[in-house]
Amino acid sequence: MRIDVHEKSGTFHLHNDELSYVMKVLPNGHLGQLYFGAPIHDREDFDYLLEICARSHSAVFEDEGFVSLEHVKQEYPSYGNSDFREGAVEILQSDGSRISDLRYAGCRTEHGKPRLPGLPATYTEHDEEAETLAVTLRDEKDGMEVTLFYTIFEGAGVIARSARLENRGKEPVHIERAMSLSLDLPDASYDWIQLAGSWARERTPLRQPLHSGIQAVESLRGHSSHQYNPFLMLVRPETGEDGGEAMGFCLVYSGNFLAQIQADTYGVTRVTMGIHPAWFSWKLEPGESFQTPEAVIVYTDQGLNAMSQTFHRLFRDRLARGAWKNRVRPILINNWEATYFDFDEPKLLTIAEKAKEEGVELFVLDDGWFGARRNDRAGLGDWVPAEELLPSGIAGLSKKITAMGLSFGLWFEPEMVNPDSDLYRAHPDWTLHAPGRKPTTSRHQLVLDFSRPEVVDYVHGLISAILREADISYVKWDMNRSITECYSAALPADREGEVFHRYILGVYDLYERLTSEFPEILFESCAGGGGRFDAGLLYYAPQGWTSDDTDAVERIRIQYGTSYAYPLSSMGSHVSAVPNHQLRRITPLKTRADVAYFGTYGYELDLNRLSAEEQDQVKDCTRFMKEHRELIQYGTFYRLRSPFESNEAAWMVVSGDRKEAIVAYYQILSTVNGGFLRLPLRGLDPDRLYHVKEDAGAEGDFYGDELMHAGLVTSDETSQKIGERIRPAGDFRSTLYLLRAKD
Ligand code: DGJ
Repeated sequence: MRIDVHEKSGTFHLHNDELSYVMKVLPNGHLGQLYFGAPIHDREDFDYLLEICARSHSAVFEDEGFVSLEHVKQEYPSYGNSDFREGAVEILQSDGSRISDLRYAGCRTEHGKPRLPGLPATYTEHDEEAETLAVTLRDEKDGMEVTLFYTIFEGAGVIARSARLENRGKEPVHIERAMSLSLDLPDASYDWIQLAGSWARERTPLRQPLHSGIQAVESLRGHSSHQYNPFLMLVRPETGEDGGEAMGFCLVYSGNFLAQIQADTYGVTRVTMGIHPAWFSWKLEPGESFQTPEAVIVYTDQGLNAMSQTFHRLFRDRLARGAWKNRVRPILINNWEATYFDFDEPKLLTIAEKAKEEGVELFVLDDGWFGARRNDRAGLGDWVPAEELLPSGIAGLSKKITAMGLSFGLWFEPEMVNPDSDLYRAHPDWTLHAPGRKPTTSRHQLVLDFSRPEVVDYVHGLISAILREADISYVKWDMNRSITECYSAALPADREGEVFHRYILGVYDLYERLTSEFPEILFESCAGGGGRFDAGLLYYAPQGWTSDDTDAVERIRIQYGTSYAYPLSSMGSHVSAVPNHQLRRITPLKTRADVAYFGTYGYELDLNRLSAEEQDQVKDCTRFMKEHRELIQYGTFYRLRSPFESNEAAWMVVSGDRKEAIVAYYQILSTVNGGFLRLPLRGLDPDRLYHVKEDAGAEGDFYGDELMHAGLVTSDETSQKIGERIRPAGDFRSTLYLLRAKD
């Protein structure tokens, strides 16, 4: 890995074994993009890639060699002089002008990677792991200085980018747009893939050919959202899971975002990603600076599985932090779907006792334990244990639970308040609301104004007191509504455009304080399921509740889609009761467990209500997960068959040494007299002989090359090829195959 700076030609080349990223200071001082893709040899200059041309009808700087920025691939462009595409930066100056002209002012390289103050970001543990290039551009007229940061990591096809804007002028300015990345690519023969959805249906991969013009995903909800994820992929039309060029772009941020692709009519593709410029405006006084969130770009020519694996490794090892970062996750039981708001201490203890018997390790008390919160209409914000439910408080309950040999976890929703609460009655102005306008509620709640430090301090005081006095080893941090009437009573009119971003900075600040004061506590993020499942929160909470939908069939889809960017160790996944509470579907317990294994694993039901036979099955499931969670959560994950394309789905994890693997095969609906089905596996050692054991008992020995090329036979009629068994028919079936290399 290295960064070559060729001063004579003004060329920067970041490269390692996985990729090359080449930029150049253009003759007029702007920073041009020359190449991003598979690794290429270094050279003094790559000027042959420079396509400066003044086409007819374009605007030019005539005295600068007829350079039209419209036809130049750039690194941090702006709209307004000669580029008519969407820019990366827009500065509103005191004279009303929005024109920027950022030209090269210098560069430096450093070992390692600087932290981004107040923001989540990937990091290094040792300086040798990465190199960072900082290129500074300056606008002589308004004094704005923009420093672009590029980090390349050793042995990984990753570039991390961000920008810092500094006002070195004499007048205040307003930043109206400051994207984390802008990347111009020389052609537009791509498909783009987004993760779209809604509540309970998060992160469905949607693949479409790029069309001329703008295509984008975004959130203006104040959180990254169930609807769109701050993540997109660009792939060649022929790219699949196992081959072809793929680029992934992921914003390490949890608030409003824009992830946009603009294919112009000359076949140039511009990818832009960052804080959504709508409803954003940041006043920068002379001497002040603004740091954008980080965007991570992954490049591979080995297909989408390889791209995802790079994200998984990076996010597990160099984004997640703290004591839990590389630890297997505790098997938990959460009382939400077991009781909703209808519980008291004896009921909780009964659930916990049974869970303990079944091998569970952590009991999580969800919503409803505080204030007047007997339903979702009151009490939110009053973080005082409800005496009538919990006579010995959280401290007493946690003591009883830990005495059983379980750890204890607790639910909070720190950012919210019910209008019917003591907190709201005391501080109505602590919510986001616009003067003279009725605020809209959602789930009967309002949003606390986390852009105000005193609000964050107050919530911090209450939560940290509870975490200190009780025996708590896990926190579920929920967030159950989008932001409306985004206005802070504490900011002047010309700073109201800062509220959305300041709000998220407040969230990060509280996370930072709590995670550093309680380093042993495992945090799980949540937002009505997966409404804020993003890379930003992985920095603080190494796992997130993937979705409120706990139906096994839906979860195959949701977890499959989520896996494009996020590792299995980050996906909260539970076995719940049937009929399923979200869609009334009845699926076998085995299938529910076989899906939930591929995540952090837990239960979301009262195990007392299961039959004795099912309880024995649960014991086996818990035992299975304990035995295999290291491999599942930290192995290499491969998507094998998409649930969005057929009646089947399959995925597998392989250990680092390729000696062990687990394959999960799901058949959604039963078929009659169906075709012959084979499932080619991935990631095995072709020369090794593997012992393959189907969970129902059939087994056989096969070479890695057979399993990868001929495939595992999964059709009912031919399953005797691994044994003599014909699988029982029935909808929503699953089979696990355990592979172990023979000596
Ligand atoms: C939404 C979460 O996703 C659920 O798991 C549960 O915690 C409820 N909120 C509680 O209100």
